[in-house]
Amino acid sequence: MRGLFVTATDTGVGKTLVSTLLVRGLMSRTIPAIHFKPVQSGFITVNGTEYPADLAFSRSLIEPEGDLDAYCKKRSLFAFRMPVSPDFAAEKEGKSIDPAAIVARANELASEHLLITEGAGGVAVPLAPNYLMADLIADLGQPALIVARPGLGTLNHTYLTVDHLRRRGIGIAGIVVSGYDAGDISAERNLRMLAEMNGLPLLGILPRILGLDTERPGWVTPEAADALQERFDWPRIIAAIGA
Ligand SMILES: Nc1ncnc2c1ncn2[C@@H]1O[C@H](COP(=O)(O)OP(=O)(O)OP(=O)(O)O)[C@@H](O)[C@H]1O
Ligand SMILES: [Mg+2]
Repeated sequence: MRGLFVTATDTGVGKTLVSTLLVRGLMSRTIPAIHFKPVQSGFITVNGTEYPADLAFSRSLIEPEGDLDAYCKKRSLFAFRMPVSPDFAAEKEGKSIDPAAIVARANELASEHLLITEGAGGVAVPLAPNYLMADLIADLGQPALIVARPGLGTLNHTYLTVDHLRRRGIGIAGIVVSGYDAGDISAERNLRMLAEMNGLPLLGILPRILGLDTERPGWVTPEAADALQERFDWPRIIAAIGA
């Protein structure tokens, strides 16, 4: 399936920020992209109603005038209240995650849009018995884009993520680093090492934005998002997506 599967080395690394900017950037290039977040644990409250947190954030920068409820319904499938591992969040609500339903919805959306699918956590997050996030990436047949942290620990986490995806035969478009701080003693070297160790291109380097909180829709202004989108290697991304 065309598009990208945005995964990361861990939870809270920057997938929602990156997915949102990718969709905006593609749309500004007249490519009809959509942020698909099939599995979400964690809601936020907007005007007294609960919504899946990541979609509430992306909507604030992608369709700020549109109806939030309709925006989320179209783009989410298994959304749970508790901010814990998705399989556990589902169990707590007496539900389960059906991977076949995710693939079916993805196919529906893909008839009109280029899918930027956002995972939850990293590649080995359990979704159902004997079924990990990497199995979903393989079933969707999308190339993975890995969001990585810039600092200490990222070489190990990113290498393990790449290794796991490659063992499963999943293609990897490249790496995006989120939270880059030029003042960090190892940051610049880490960028070089991330590319070298994994034989992958860096598709974007997003700077550290002090105070960023993706659980606060509207915190990132459209002007700030435009500037961040400049940090992506668009020709490479568009080639990887097959747009
Ligand atoms: N470039 C950045 N600058 C500063 N903080 C960042 C940056 N990228 C990510 N963060 C921090 O990480 C948090 C989580 O980011 P984001 O929601 O994009 O991660 P995620 O990988 O989508 O998480 P989840 O697994 O919950 O979906 C942000 O609220 C922010 O605190
Ligand atoms: Mg997210």
